[in-house]
Amino acid sequence: MMDWNNLGFRYRKTAKILCCRYSNGSWGEIESTTDDNISLSAFAGALHYSIECFEGLKAFRGQDGKIRIFRPDENARRLKSSADFIGLPCPSEEMFIEMCARIVKENIDFLPPYGLNASLYIRPTLIGSNPQLGVQFAKEATFLMLCAPVGAYTGGALEPCNVAIARNYDRAATYGTGRFKLGGNYAASLYSLGIAQKQGYKATLYLDPQTHTLIDEYNSSNFFGIKGNTYVTPLSDTILPSITNKTLEAVAKAQGMTVERRAVPVEELSEFEEVGECGTAVVITPVSYIDDKPALEVTDPAQIKRYTFVTEGCGPKSLKLYRHITGIQYGELDDTFGWCLIV
Ligand SMILES: Cc1ncc(COP(=O)(O)O)c(C=O)c1O
Repeated sequence: MMDWNNLGFRYRKTAKILCCRYSNGSWGEIESTTDDNISLSAFAGALHYSIECFEGLKAFRGQDGKIRIFRPDENARRLKSSADFIGLPCPSEEMFIEMCARIVKENIDFLPPYGLNASLYIRPTLIGSNPQLGVQFAKEATFLMLCAPVGAYTGGALEPCNVAIARNYDRAATYGTGRFKLGGNYAASLYSLGIAQKQGYKATLYLDPQTHTLIDEYNSSNFFGIKGNTYVTPLSDTILPSITNKTLEAVAKAQGMTVERRAVPVEELSEFEEVGECGTAVVITPVSYIDDKPALEVTDPAQIKRYTFVTEGCGPKSLKLYRHITGIQYGELDDTFGWCLIV
């Protein structure tokens, strides 16, 4: 029996995965298998040159018993932009959405019950799969549709996390790949994340790689700050265009807040009443404090500037945004924006 209350965010074998292969200019049949090992050439470009991009979205079991997938069209479009950048053939929006709906139906027993802040995380993954030796565009691709039941990303839902600024590390280059969802970006952030985690931090916050004066994003989520009635989030070419953040901007406006997407200097952290992480996996995770230090390795408190936001729980405005977005996802509130696909 699945322990629905303690899912966390980790790999779990589900009933089925879907796999579709592209070669000679077209996609083949969508195959559904119980085995989540795939056959792949050891020379596949994905393994050597990181010719890989992916997505993350969620399906929810609603209060009304209906199953909702949140904004899959947005993920389909973002996958296309990532795939274009690394020259991978990409499934159409229709095919992407059809496979999202099918993976949920084929793993219906793994979709958590309503009322537990849990969901079925969907992981579309696109890789260059033909054997190759030189650095070239992939000729063949494999598109996988995977899923896993998940709860909170770190700790419990709305449990605040602490963050360290990674001043002496970047996750993406100025004219690089930060705005695409490429596996390589995550590999590039692991070393710095590891340093922060050894010191007890839950996440790293990266600055703009050009000047290191502006806030970019966390290792696996976007940044937002709230002061007064204003929701502030970075405008940057080196961050992932988060679908959750875009959603929160719309929700904040609907709640009568002012939304500012603009450059956010690090020092402005002292002016925010609430700061959070936002993303599909983290939903909204309030940030308790952010430590700014000359280098991530520094542990001497005298050299650390600490910005503190909440000591426990979640700030009231972040909580209101959280309730609004999860309310739509779980069918408790009207989906006035038309964001949910009912399957
Ligand atoms: C680096 C990074 N930024 C932002 C996000 C948030 O994007 P989204 O809201 O589309 O999930 C993610 C994924 O959750 C991420 O990995």
